[in-house]
Amino acid sequence: MVLLDGALHETLAGFIHEKPLERAVHAKGWGAFGQFETGRAMGEYTVLPFLQRVGEQTPTVSRFSLAVSSRDTPDASRNVRGFSTKFYTGNGVFDLLCNHLPVFSVRDAMRFPEFIRTLGPAPGSNLRDPERFWAFVAHAPEALHFVTWLYSDAGTVKSLRHLRTYGVNTYVWRNAAGKRRYVKYHWLPQAGTEFLTAAESAALAGDPDVAGRGLYEAIARGEGPEYELRVQLMDPADAESLPYDPLDATKVWSEADYPLQPVGRLILNRNPENYREQVEKLAFSPANLLPGAEFSDDKLLQGRSAVYWDAQRRRLGTDFRKIPVNRQEGWTPDQQVSSGLGAETAGTQVRAGISRRDDFTQAGERYRALPREEQEHLEENIASELRGVSRETRETVLDYLSCADRDYGGRVAEKSRA
Ligand code: HEM
Repeated sequence: MVLLDGALHETLAGFIHEKPLERAVHAKGWGAFGQFETGRAMGEYTVLPFLQRVGEQTPTVSRFSLAVSSRDTPDASRNVRGFSTKFYTGNGVFDLLCNHLPVFSVRDAMRFPEFIRTLGPAPGSNLRDPERFWAFVAHAPEALHFVTWLYSDAGTVKSLRHLRTYGVNTYVWRNAAGKRRYVKYHWLPQAGTEFLTAAESAALAGDPDVAGRGLYEAIARGEGPEYELRVQLMDPADAESLPYDPLDATKVWSEADYPLQPVGRLILNRNPENYREQVEKLAFSPANLLPGAEFSDDKLLQGRSAVYWDAQRRRLGTDFRKIPVNRQEGWTPDQQVSSGLGAETAGTQVRAGISRRDDFTQAGERYRALPREEQEHLEENIASELRGVSRETRETVLDYLSCADRDYGGRVAEKSRA
């Protein structure tokens, strides 16, 4: 063995450094290329270049992910699933990041690390500890709506083909006349939405890659999944008169008042040839916008504006925009689209919560909207965890559940005593 054996050192060093770092969240994922077809010209609402002409075809790449995961997390586990898409338009790349639950756990980005840590293992035992998560909920009543989604059957999805996803945050669309509207994005699976029960999800845990394999094999057979893009649009003038704050990421907008309008169709039709280069190295950011789409004053969204690129500089290096799948060669910071209106501030700035919080109404509405059988699953899924937490935490959470709906709280209380 010669110390100067450069061939050996290069071989070993190449191997040691070839694995990209994991994402801080959404570590496990699956990806595919596709084609988006604009179904309706949206020029009345936005100058976004790929939404101007019916029939326009835009190449895409999408990545499905598990929000709280490592590379071995079972696909069928109770989790938030991500669905991110890059639209390669003739005028630049537009990213749309979605989650499979319509609301987020917190409305202030400052609480994101605290929330994510409570879902990970305890620092001492390295084991998941329900007390950590439920003690967080007890100190974050705004999480109750999210919890009501996550612990229902909607938290365990049958397959990626059946995945319904939401932009969660509120963005802005701007048209050629400069008129701005609030917009929320939705992807509806053409195959319909289907969930698993907790028992089915536990049974599938022994096949950790079940969803990824299903996606890969379906695309290989020429039967890739399809999703329809729809949007809810709101005149910002409505915001003050609503009972909820439409810029609060813990809230949904009424679909009766703000109907889902069809925009186009996405077909995933090509598997990656090189997973590491084409999926693992994808760099998505909610700030990767094009003229016609802007940030709103949604606090959580603004909190997300810089962190993704920081994460990618760490994980992929400063040249992450030159990686072919990210295709932003020649990008300069002045191409960044932000909040179109800008804002003037004067006086003292403070960190403060929003005024219209209303942490419980929509959680109660969601509970009442479920068929009785699914309510029972939700009650049991929460109760089975509350049985193992401290009395103080359990009673606070049960109080919140009762504030959302008296039956919801009462039934979980009964089941958690069983
Ligand atoms: C303050 C709140 C949030 C913070 C600080 C945050 C932060 C992050 C970070 C650091 C990553 C990894 C990025 C990378 O390494 O490429 C990530 C991934 C992701 N986030 Fe968030 N996030 C937040 C909220 C949300 C919300 C509300 C959504 C809902 C749409 C969301 C959807 C996603 C998705 C889908 C991914 C995976 C992207 C991919 O496939 O590469 N995040 N987030």
